[in-house]
Amino acid sequence: MTTLEEKAYAKLNLTMDVGPLREDGYHDVSTVMIPITLCDEVTIHLGTGEPWQVRTTDETIPTGRKNLAYKAAQAFYRAAGGDPEGLTVEIEKRIPAGGGLGGGSADAAAVLRALNRHHGFPLSQERLEQAGLEVGSDVPFCVRNEPALAEGRGERLLPVHPMPPCYYVLVKPPFSASTPELYRKLDNMRLPARPKTQEMLHALELGNLREIGCQLLNVFEYALLSDHQELFQIENALENCGALGTSMTGSGSVMFGVFENFDFAATASMSLMQVGYPTFLATNFTKEV
Ligand code: C5P
Repeated sequence: MTTLEEKAYAKLNLTMDVGPLREDGYHDVSTVMIPITLCDEVTIHLGTGEPWQVRTTDETIPTGRKNLAYKAAQAFYRAAGGDPEGLTVEIEKRIPAGGGLGGGSADAAAVLRALNRHHGFPLSQERLEQAGLEVGSDVPFCVRNEPALAEGRGERLLPVHPMPPCYYVLVKPPFSASTPELYRKLDNMRLPARPKTQEMLHALELGNLREIGCQLLNVFEYALLSDHQELFQIENALENCGALGTSMTGSGSVMFGVFENFDFAATASMSLMQVGYPTFLATNFTKEV
């Protein structure tokens, strides 16, 4: 039996814009995404001689073939050929589920990366990302794990300047949003504003954290704010603690604040935790070269 280990990094959406519904049931998006240090630990056992299994430490997450990690292993062997003769994936979850942090997509991407490396890179980076897209729209980004502007369903990835050094305080409100439902809600809404993607890209190029903070905007937030006033309270609390900007990630419900100063970030995290919200502190993930 062989054991592989891979970290699965969460993502944040710095901007999130959603276009009209396409004929294939998806929406075109335009979103600036970055990987952060909050991660799950994925362990894969190959050659178990038993039926495929996926287990996680979070009982709210589906196990077995419904888990995106299982679908990723299927997509990998479909594309690359071969048979692992039994496979078990164990996921130690730290990324909260249902938060818009791309936890399931990150786990799937970790499986794809680990299997490709183990088998001697039978799939090019492009083919690996394509296999990821069969599993979910955010998986190609998670396979690549680099700051990017994602367009199309989320699979067209254009590298962008990384974030300057900073800290993120992530706050998980006590509800999860259904992604398809929120997309449908946006179809029937007039949006008060949209992210200025080019201005965000320019701010990233300049490494201007204050301006990046000002340009954070996620249109899914408009679909949630009317029913969830606590999102305002979280944003206010983060700003009062010194956040340079706040927003929601993905289709929520996790809210985040961007901080230049670690002490301010730690204080914000503590004070929101005291109010009863699960909070997480993270920073930028950068790949080792
Ligand atoms: O690709 P993924 O499985 O993550 O998408 C979940 C659902 O979110 C889709 O079935 C679709 O309803 C919606 N979606 C969308 N446009 C996208 C991504 C997802 O409408 N670009």
